Amino acid sequence: MDIVRLTAGKKKIFEDFLRSYLARADSGSGIFEAFSYSLTAGGKRLRPILTMLACECMGGKESDALPAGLAIEMIHTFSLIHDDLPALDNDDLRRGRPTCHAKFGEATAILAGDALIFQALSVINSSPYQEDVKLDILKCISDVCGVEGLVQGEYRDVVAEGKDLSLDEIEDIYRKKTSRLFELCMYAGARVASADAEKIGRLVRYGTYLGLAFQAIDDILDMTSSEEILGKSSGKDLVQGKATVVKALGLDGARLWAGEMTSRAVSSIDHPDNGASSSLKEIARWMLKRVM
Ligand code: FPP
Ligand code: MG
Repeated sequence: MDIVRLTAGKKKIFEDFLRSYLARADSGSGIFEAFSYSLTAGGKRLRPILTMLACECMGGKESDALPAGLAIEMIHTFSLIHDDLPALDNDDLRRGRPTCHAKFGEATAILAGDALIFQALSVINSSPYQEDVKLDILKCISDVCGVEGLVQGEYRDVVAEGKDLSLDEIEDIYRKKTSRLFELCMYAGARVASADAEKIGRLVRYGTYLGLAFQAIDDILDMTSSEEILGKSSGKDLVQGKATVVKALGLDGARLWAGEMTSRAVSSIDHPDNGASSSLKEIARWMLKRVM
C-alpha cells in the first residue's frame, strides 16, 4: 500500500473542503484573518485523514466525514495557538511560519483561538448530519476537551516542568493532551457512518494508542531533529524540563515505548478488516518510521 499517496489524496480533499468553508465564512475581520492564517498553515492534516478513514472503516464515504474532520482540525489548531502562547510553551515558530501570536499579537491570537472552538461547534451544528449524530459528536467534543481532557493534559504538562514524573504520570498527560483528540477523530468519523458501539470502541482504542505513540514520537523528534525539518522549535523540551518519555526512559527506551504503543494501536483494529483499517494500521507504522 502506498500510504504516502493515500494520505496526500485525502489531504487534498480536506484542503479543498477547508478552502470552500473559508470562502463562505470570510467576514473580512482581523480575527478572521488570524483564524484562517493558522488554519491554512498546512501541517499533515492527520486528524481529518483519520476521521475520514474511521468513517470508511464503518462503511461510510470519506466525504461524509469532512464536517467532523474540519471541526476537529479547528479544535486542534486552536489548541496549538494557545499552546504556543508566551504563558504556555512560548513558541514563535509553528509549521514553518511565525506562530499566531508572533504574527498578530497575543490578544488577537487568544481571541482567534477562542473563535475556533465555537466555530468547530457551529460546523457540526450546521452539517447535514442527523440530529442524534450531531448530539453524540458534540457530547464527545465536550468530554474530550474539558477538565478531564485536553485542558487537564495541557495543565499537567505545564505544571510538570522541571519535575521528575513517573512513566504512568507521563502517560496520563499524553493520554489527555494528545490521545483524547485522536479518540475524537475515531469516534466522530465512525459515528457519522454507524452507531455500532462495539466497533466504534475498537477504533477509539486505536486512537488512544496512536495518540500515545504520536506524542512519544513528537518528543523524540524534539530531541533528535532540527527546526528546519520540523517547522517548529526543537530541543526545547530539555531546556524547559518537560515531562516526556524521553526524559523518563532515554532515547532508546522512548523508541521502544513508541513501538509498543504502535503495536497496540495496530492490534486494536483487527476487525473490521477492510481497506480503511489496513490504511489506519499502515499510518501507525509509517509514523513510527520517522524515529527508527
Ligand atoms: C502540543 O503539545 C499541545 C497539545 C497536544 C495540547 C494543547 C492543549 C491546550 C492548549 C488546551 C486545549 C483546550 C481546549 C478547550 C480543547 P506539545 O507542546 O508537546 O507539542 P509542540 O512541540 O507541537 O508544541
Ligand atoms: Mg508546545
